[in-house]
Amino acid sequence: MSDIKVHPVNPEFAAKAHIDNAKYQTMYDQSINDPDAFWGEHGKRLDWFTPFTKVKNTSFDLHNVDIRWFEDGTLNASYNCLDRHLEERGDQTAIIWEGDDPSESEHISYRDLHGRVCRLANALRGQGVKKGDVVTLYMPMIPEAAVAMLACARIGAVHSVVFGGFSPEALANRIDGAESTVVITSDFSLRGGKVVPLKANVDKALTDPAAAKLVKTVVVVQRTGDKLAWDDSRDVWYHDITAAASAECEAEPVLAEDPLFILYTSGSTGKPKGLKHTTGGYLVYAAMTHEYVFDYKPGDIYWCTADVGWVTGHSYIVYGPLANGATTLMFEGVPNYPDSSRFGRVIEKHKVNQFYTAPTAIRALMQQGEDVLGNADLSSLRLLGSVGEPINPEAWEWYNRVVGKDSCPIVDTWWQTETGGIMITPLPGAINTKPGSATRPFFGVLPALVDNEGKELEGAADGNLVIKDSWPGQSRSIWGDHERFSQTYFSTFKGFYTTGDGARRDADGYYWITGRVDDVINVSGHRMGTAEVESALVAHPAVAEAAVVGYPHNLKGQGIYVYVTLQSGFDASDELLKELRTWVRSEIGPIASPDLIQFAPGMPKTRSGKIMRRILRKIAEDDYGALGDTSTLADPTVVDDLIENRLNRK
Ligand code: WT7
Repeated sequence: MSDIKVHPVNPEFAAKAHIDNAKYQTMYDQSINDPDAFWGEHGKRLDWFTPFTKVKNTSFDLHNVDIRWFEDGTLNASYNCLDRHLEERGDQTAIIWEGDDPSESEHISYRDLHGRVCRLANALRGQGVKKGDVVTLYMPMIPEAAVAMLACARIGAVHSVVFGGFSPEALANRIDGAESTVVITSDFSLRGGKVVPLKANVDKALTDPAAAKLVKTVVVVQRTGDKLAWDDSRDVWYHDITAAASAECEAEPVLAEDPLFILYTSGSTGKPKGLKHTTGGYLVYAAMTHEYVFDYKPGDIYWCTADVGWVTGHSYIVYGPLANGATTLMFEGVPNYPDSSRFGRVIEKHKVNQFYTAPTAIRALMQQGEDVLGNADLSSLRLLGSVGEPINPEAWEWYNRVVGKDSCPIVDTWWQTETGGIMITPLPGAINTKPGSATRPFFGVLPALVDNEGKELEGAADGNLVIKDSWPGQSRSIWGDHERFSQTYFSTFKGFYTTGDGARRDADGYYWITGRVDDVINVSGHRMGTAEVESALVAHPAVAEAAVVGYPHNLKGQGIYVYVTLQSGFDASDELLKELRTWVRSEIGPIASPDLIQFAPGMPKTRSGKIMRRILRKIAEDDYGALGDTSTLADPTVVDDLIENRLNRK
């Protein structure tokens, strides 16, 4: 590890930063030694209708997982993101929207956003939405997505955002799981010049009997205005119901532990789970991490390139920035449309100060060469961020040099849908960085490494990454299944929150995330359960058995490698290959599209019938020389065929 280049904190940056090294140390110690005092103080960054008197009340005990923060306080997230800013910065831009087409953009002030949110909030009430109801959002990256989230929050309804790239089938499952009665969508979405029929996807999702029974109203934003099918008994135009609604709407006080949103994410087994996030702790944590990690100062233009369909969009496009009265940029498009200089053009056009993106995007740009950003003026940039997957040191250095011009700190932020906000990250004025390391914990976060028996490892070590105690942004439960929540996160290593990631801690106490230790894969920063892709595949009539593993992929981080055994009567053909690929796309969505599909006469199984994924992973990695012990296999000859026909040859 000695050849790792340390990038020291820039003293000029540190002098102006919210947090320098001394302050980090003091505040971190306080946050761990006396969480009640620390979070009691920082909880005050929000406006509370009823101030909290209790701060932390949490238990990681498997039989009583119970997480509460600020539990007797009442507040409203939309009020904190809008109303409280009106006096001081009503005319300041809250959202800069940059359209897919570079000629389209819009500045929305806090006052304007407040008006739009109030109108939709009233309109939703008019459609019968009440406090506690779940509203599903299936939206493009347009301002109405943020408006809809905040409108739900305003009336105490719970939003469940489903990524616009998911299939009708996946959408239907999420509507059923959340028992959602209203869907907000748009006629079409526009990405990279391509038109996606979102409303038609909703129509398809609602052919699912359970979803159809639940959903009474579909609110449709007009994005492109192209022709679409319409059901008068169910569909309403967003512009009609909001035009008729008043722009005044009191924000409904909710308890700190009332749910703000559900967000589905993949696990190693079973269906995607709807993680429940509540209002008070989540918002305190999202706002505070946004301010300190990105060193956000009033007047800064901040851009996170994520989609609101993921937690990154929730915490760092919408809630964190808006709670801080920031100007947040929302981008409808993709990095390579109209061409690969787009990110550079947007940074230049809007004079972006903080830029937060994913390693997969950085690697894609890097592949195009040094002048990929078309000589755009990037001098406004002060800080760069990375999220979603481990960033390889080469990509880190390229990001630093070509985008940051060697003068912007890089924050490599490790966190999860479950954590609500950033957990391990350098604070830019405080922590020297090492390319590829997420470095040190944020305030209040106690990471630890344990071995497979759950024994805590000290000093420099490699193990399973766990968190020892609760932090305010933590997910409270899985919607409708608290037992699954307890089992998934608190049963493997007793007394700890299990992240599912492996990590190494070096002699300086820096954390290096090594990737998932479970059957979850991370493709271009999108999280997927291999079991989900497998169950989509076996639903195809030609497939007898399927096994899915991740393998290292230059651009995507991990690619999807599929082994398929066919039903008798079906032949391995190129057509079938194509068909299976299309099938998975339509069952889950384009992000789950297999990269490599290998037809296999059989799977390597133990005598008890368990597929030995370790072997499949090794073969997919083209590392078949080290398969380990295969003597327990029911039929060891299967392996020879798999090796002979392997698809990823280096
Ligand atoms: C998983 C969580 C964090 C919001 C977006 C993804 C991986 C995330 C990093 C990072 C290494 C990372 C982990 C984690 N991951 N950030 N900076 N370095 N790995 O949220 O979809 O819930 O996925 O993404 O494996 O467990 P998510």
